Amino acid sequence: MRTHYCAEVNELHIGQEVTVSGWVSSRRDHGGLIFIDLRDKDQVVQLVCDPADNAEVHKIAEGIRDQFVLIVTGKVRARGEGLENPKLKTGKVEIVVDKLIVENKSLPMPFDLGDEKVNEEIRLKYRYLELRTQKSYEIFKLRSKATIATRNALDELGFLEVETPIMTKSTPEGARDYLIPSRVHGGEFYAMPQSPQLFKQLLMVGGFDRYFQIAKCFRDEDLRADRQPEFTQIDVELSFCDQEDVIEIGEKLIHSIFTKCGFDIPKKFNRMTYSDAMEFYGSDKPDMRYDLKMVDVMDIFERCDNEIFSNIAKDSKKNRIKALKVPKGDEIFSKRQMKGFEEYVRKFGAAGLGYFQMKEDGLKGPLTKFFTEDDIQAIIERCELEVGDAVFFGAGNKKLVWDYMGRFRIYLAELMNIIPKDTFEFLWVMDFPMFEIEEGKMKAMHHPFTMPVTDENGKIVFDDLEDLQSIAYDIVVNGTELGGGSIRIHKEEIQKEVFKLMAIPDDEAEEKFGFLLDAFKYGAPPHGGFALGLDRMIMLMTGASSIREVIAFPKTQKAQCILTQAPSPVDNEQLNDLSIRIRKQVDAYVR
Ligand code: AMO
Repeated sequence: MRTHYCAEVNELHIGQEVTVSGWVSSRRDHGGLIFIDLRDKDQVVQLVCDPADNAEVHKIAEGIRDQFVLIVTGKVRARGEGLENPKLKTGKVEIVVDKLIVENKSLPMPFDLGDEKVNEEIRLKYRYLELRTQKSYEIFKLRSKATIATRNALDELGFLEVETPIMTKSTPEGARDYLIPSRVHGGEFYAMPQSPQLFKQLLMVGGFDRYFQIAKCFRDEDLRADRQPEFTQIDVELSFCDQEDVIEIGEKLIHSIFTKCGFDIPKKFNRMTYSDAMEFYGSDKPDMRYDLKMVDVMDIFERCDNEIFSNIAKDSKKNRIKALKVPKGDEIFSKRQMKGFEEYVRKFGAAGLGYFQMKEDGLKGPLTKFFTEDDIQAIIERCELEVGDAVFFGAGNKKLVWDYMGRFRIYLAELMNIIPKDTFEFLWVMDFPMFEIEEGKMKAMHHPFTMPVTDENGKIVFDDLEDLQSIAYDIVVNGTELGGGSIRIHKEEIQKEVFKLMAIPDDEAEEKFGFLLDAFKYGAPPHGGFALGLDRMIMLMTGASSIREVIAFPKTQKAQCILTQAPSPVDNEQLNDLSIRIRKQVDAYVR
């Protein structure tokens, strides 16, 4: 139905007859002449319908409206002098229409395509219309390039692409499962995978050595700008490897994908321990595009005359006092603004936010009176303060201080507009703790199949369980967690020990992960791997502010597909087949 895509029509075709097809993106009636911008997958070409040339075509063109589907044949000619459009690839030419078929009509658009201010519900209801925009096409073209680059890179590195089941058993990645009721086994459920974690480990026991999958994962968790209930991972696992081998594969893969997608990135990435990331940046995914690094001032505050601070400083296991220097902050921010920052951190549980200003005649601020001259000097030196700088202090429970000072760092960077836009700062964050305490329970920080650090006899040793380290790493880009992975446990006794440390009873471990423990009895090789969030990667590459922009048919923040109206009630017959009775219709379908 075409001889050329719209984008292909150019000066070389002047005088030739071409056939193009697509959608009307705009139509202008200039009294006699009618101009139509026809768009196919990605570009526009201008059509001219001249009544003097072809009265029949002109008559049809009078009835044409936006987004009608046309198949058009005509001769290419140069646009008149001064009428060229340098913004368009086809801007030097136009097609004088000789044959015009209206293949389909269209209702008026329910919203202005490409207007991002339009309510998202409407845009998602008519997602197929939004996909018609050039911006969407470019996003999905890049996404396709990235997945093809992934396959090619991993194929070259000797990885096998294997599919793992969607109807399966729970894989604990920390979210709730999406469940599928079984008809044949009434009252029983499959779980959709939160990741292919356990299957990829079983593939290693199966001897495949190097596996990958572009895998759909499902997690019922609170949604955010970079989280969807259904998302895609580039999932990788390899055998007989240590952490360095996995990191090398990760760097090669990421370098290859980004390069193929047109981005210039380094071959090797910087590294930082989890502990340094928290202490210096208050986050396990620090954005390294800008500086703003925290320093510890516990020892200085321990000596001050303010009991609140000196008491906090006494317990260095539980608490922290962190200083965040803002170069020229005293010149940039008004006193009111500085006080306003306190309101910001209070939202995240801070009791307050102290500050000092570095003036010509020394350090000033409400807290200076509590410090000796020597300690004032110590603060100036520790924070490397120069005239015009401001420095902010957070004090209290370490997790709280890391969290709000980390957020405050980002808030300041955005406010001061110091975040470079067109650059990627990759960082491996390493040596994660094995566990964290959540609601009084030991929870695996990565997942329970991650290898804890062991002694030379392969025994897990620790003084404080919270300090036990694991062989786990995240790959962070510009403050976003792009991926994560670990070296896995491949010995039954260590896996059982970890379940025990997490207070998972033997029978529960057996019921949930018996198949994995069984597999470990049959010669499981040492193995490890990682998974990258594909959607997040495309967000980073395109600068999209929401993950929904890079998924063809995304769900809303409330996990609904507005387009198809999913989830939706089902009829009673179907429920009966599944041995399910809905307890309370209203509760079940709250929107
Ligand atoms: P993890 O849970 O860290 O690791 O997930 C890996 C990466 O997947 C992406 N991701 C998400 N993207 C969009 N929406 C979500 N709800 C979502 N959740 C996670 C992130 C994240 O870094 N099995 C392990 C990997 C391994 O150990 O090999 C896992 O799933 O980019």
